[in-house]
Amino acid sequence: MSGNVTFTIIKPDAVKSGHSGSIIKMIEKAGFKLLEMKLVSLTKEKASEFYEVHKEKPFYDRLCNYMSSGPIIVMKLSKNNAIEDFRKLIGSTNPQDAAEGTIRNLFATSIEANAIHGSDSDENAIIESDFFFNN
Ligand code: CMP
Repeated sequence: MSGNVTFTIIKPDAVKSGHSGSIIKMIEKAGFKLLEMKLVSLTKEKASEFYEVHKEKPFYDRLCNYMSSGPIIVMKLSKNNAIEDFRKLIGSTNPQDAAEGTIRNLFATSIEANAIHGSDSDENAIIESDFFFNN
């Protein structure tokens, strides 16, 4: 069982296509409470800093360009077992593998433009939400 906080980003593709409202509705319907939320536009430098953990990956540069290509919505959320339950709600990273009815199944268009991010551990939820909310 994970802790009761997670962090999420509605990514540029989903914000651009007008899916933010539907996605937030699904998040609330699944029992998550919004603790913090804001719309932000990342510079490429900021995106590179946020995704530094992926800097050796072949997709790092494209990922940073993409994440700085338009506004995103960042949110800190609470619910019992937040990390696991949120990852179930959003579905697999690659939308082709995402279970039916998950956010990525409904709204993602590719492994890069995959609509939404969810933290993968309690530790990362704190690091990621502090990046946007505690500075
Ligand atoms: P997320 O898990 O939110 O954060 C890291 C992101 O890197 C991931 O979502 C995907 O959008 C992206 N990503 C992961 N694997 C690949 C890949 N093989 N090609 C392109 N982008 C990827």
